[in-house]
Amino acid sequence: MRDPIRVLVLGTGNMGSGIARLVLEKPGLELVGVYGRSNWRGVSDAGEAIGLDRKLGLPLSTDLDAVIAEARPEVGIQATCSTLEEGIDELAALVSNGVNVISIAEEMAYPMAHHPDIEAELEERAVAAGVSVLGTGVNPGFVLDYLVLVLSGVCSDIRSISVTRVNDLSPYGPTVLVSEGIGLTPEEFEEGRESGMVVGHRGFDESIAMIADALGWEIDSIEETLDPIVAEVRREALLVTVEPGEIAGCAQEAVAYRDGEPVITLFHAQEVCPEVEGRETADAIEIDGTPPVSLYGSPEIAGGAATISLAVNAIPQVLNAPPGLYCMADLPVSPAMLADARGFLADANDD
Ligand SMILES: NC(=O)c1ccc[n+]([C@@H]2O[C@H](COP(=O)([O-])OP(=O)(O)OC[C@H]3O[C@@H](n4cnc5c(N)ncnc54)[C@H](OP(=O)(O)O)[C@@H]3O)[C@@H](O)[C@H]2O)c1
Repeated sequence: MRDPIRVLVLGTGNMGSGIARLVLEKPGLELVGVYGRSNWRGVSDAGEAIGLDRKLGLPLSTDLDAVIAEARPEVGIQATCSTLEEGIDELAALVSNGVNVISIAEEMAYPMAHHPDIEAELEERAVAAGVSVLGTGVNPGFVLDYLVLVLSGVCSDIRSISVTRVNDLSPYGPTVLVSEGIGLTPEEFEEGRESGMVVGHRGFDESIAMIADALGWEIDSIEETLDPIVAEVRREALLVTVEPGEIAGCAQEAVAYRDGEPVITLFHAQEVCPEVEGRETADAIEIDGTPPVSLYGSPEIAGGAATISLAVNAIPQVLNAPPGLYCMADLPVSPAMLADARGFLADANDD
């Protein structure tokens, strides 16, 4: 059998740490490096940087080029940011050094939605370097788009699609909590919205574009709303405590129109500990089609854990794919990897 698949993880926040810990657990994968943009924990060992109570004997690197050169990863998993503007330098460094990439940055779920120019360049670079690049994550990347497309396959016709996701923000790191305005007063929330610090969920445009392009629908316009969710009782999460009267989350909706008709409606409420005020987390997909489809699950598909698994489970399919830039709908299903990762590779049985 070939050597274990060499994996580099970028980011030591909640997702990056979780991804690195899962890589360590999976037979057939080898964690060969951990890169952090800053060493905000003030540690030297990668084990301490990803929240283990032991050292791994692997340094935490803040120099991406150096760790790529030293660790010689086959795949790099990026968990440092949400936008392509923030993430493109890391992506370019990985690709140009011949490293396959999996990114959970929201804009990477479907880069065409906001950055067709960067998408084209990244695709070109990936093909030239002979590597594959995939954007994934629970949302965008799974619940509000990929899962919808999988379900749409049973339909001969579709009039409209409506998806609702209510999820708990407790497991997320500071990037998400800040962009959702968690812990702000309503006045600070409005100021944050005006300054662009508070944006709520990022990814509606990516999800809508992924669905519409796959179905062959042309979307004329998208209307979005964002409302604060104000806590009525104290809520305590891992990284934040929200007092009554402060912002506990955002309720957002995006409606996509085609020929003047609403055809895709995505509703997403995200808040810290919604259960303390009696709200259940849930995912619901309704397709008004032939035949109609209605799928409901509660509690939610847990966002943090799901994103970590999606990123790691995608490793074999990314390595199996021909060079290029991919969204989740482009690649074969990445099932839970419950056996040695090397067995999921296309050339697993080659001599
Ligand atoms: N597509 C999806 O469904 C999906 C799902 C989950 C998350 N995401 C996105 O993936 C990214 C990572 O998520 P996350 O929850 O891991 O975010 P996070 O914990 O905020 O970590 C993201 C970055 O912030 C830095 N950071 C974290 N905690 C810090 C602290 N206490 N002080 C200073 N810097 C700190 C980390 O720096 P270092 O680089 O130095 O470690 C890391 O690169 C976010 O942009 C998030 O929006 C997407």
